[in-house]
Amino acid sequence: MIHTGRHFLQIPGPTNVPDRVLRAMDAPVIDHRSPEFAALGKEVLDGVREVFQTKGPVVMYPASGTGAWEAALVNTLSPGDRVVLFETGQFSSLWRGVAEKFGIQVDYVPGNWRRGASAADLEARMAADRGHAIKAVMAVHNETSTGVTSRIPELRRALDKAQHPALLLVDTISSLASIDYRHDEWGVDVTIAGSQKGLMLPPGMSFNAISEKALRATESARLPRSYWDWQEMLKPNRSGFFPYTPPTNLLYGLREALKIMREEGLANVFKRHDRYAEATRAAVRAWGLEIVCEEPREYSSSLTAVFTPEGHDADKLRAVILENFDMSLGAGLGKFAGKVFRIGHLGAFNDLMLAGTLCGVEMGMRLAGVPHKEGGVMAALSSLATAGKKSEPVAAAR
Ligand SMILES: Cc1ncc(COP(=O)(O)O)c(C=O)c1O
Repeated sequence: MIHTGRHFLQIPGPTNVPDRVLRAMDAPVIDHRSPEFAALGKEVLDGVREVFQTKGPVVMYPASGTGAWEAALVNTLSPGDRVVLFETGQFSSLWRGVAEKFGIQVDYVPGNWRRGASAADLEARMAADRGHAIKAVMAVHNETSTGVTSRIPELRRALDKAQHPALLLVDTISSLASIDYRHDEWGVDVTIAGSQKGLMLPPGMSFNAISEKALRATESARLPRSYWDWQEMLKPNRSGFFPYTPPTNLLYGLREALKIMREEGLANVFKRHDRYAEATRAAVRAWGLEIVCEEPREYSSSLTAVFTPEGHDADKLRAVILENFDMSLGAGLGKFAGKVFRIGHLGAFNDLMLAGTLCGVEMGMRLAGVPHKEGGVMAALSSLATAGKKSEPVAAAR
């Protein structure tokens, strides 16, 4: 089938890259040892801290998010260290795999993939660990495979109540710059993020925001590290440089993306994502389908994962939608393969893009013979019309 117009990229990342960002990247590569580069490097290294809501350092790797997972571990832990990680979905399971390959002992707390990390469970575990054998708690803030957002401040409070010194490592790959997240205020030690989701950039760059406590942990951490070594990064970063060749054009893009986010105001960015998530859930309920996330306080604002009715293959539905309407939706991952499809509503996205996305799902369900009730799109439009003002003046939002 010949497709015209623009592809709808509605997977939960990589997300649509705004034209402004694409244009900003369409520029000559400059010498990465030049004063011009140092000015760019300083501007983005400094500016990106606003998005993490931190005053501490943020390092950037020319790598996908998986690299930043590894970096968080090798800079803070030693072989044989024990950590706690909650099973929230496919990404917690992949992160566990990375840790275990480094000889880290993971207490993997079982979960049903429909709920976030349990603060009560964490508090009990940490209180029982009187000898402080557990060195870190790892959590995926927004589980991209399920559309469930864990409540990180509650995990922090659980650690504090148990008076446990373990580090808190949080993956925000599909939440940063889409869902409210506060590295400093929430007492997170390492925040892991990627370029290709809320930050509205192409894939290829990832981040570690680092607390003072995490930085001190590097002094005793004995896992081997070279490319990921924070100390090697932080030295040249002070003057805007990198220890190796940086992804120069992605940094041009990041500079523009930061400008776009500043213009909208971070608080408005979060509200916009909340609105789209609410409207999407209104559509799903009206269709009579089931949302994967079971706990309303943990609904994700960056994506919604939906079960197809029993006996109806979610991958077939996605294929029909791609073929007929040129729209990509996220596949069900791991144990949800074929059972779930995921609607990404994050990044550079607006009301009409959401309306188009949901129209594509509804038309696709008709074509694919997936049983559903009429009226999902209408329910979403009503939700958008009634879900409050789109945004507030930037000054008020800050
Ligand atoms: C929550 C989460 N963590 C980790 C990753 C892995 O990141 P990457 O594929 O960029 O290596 C992803 C990718 O989608 C993700 O959504």
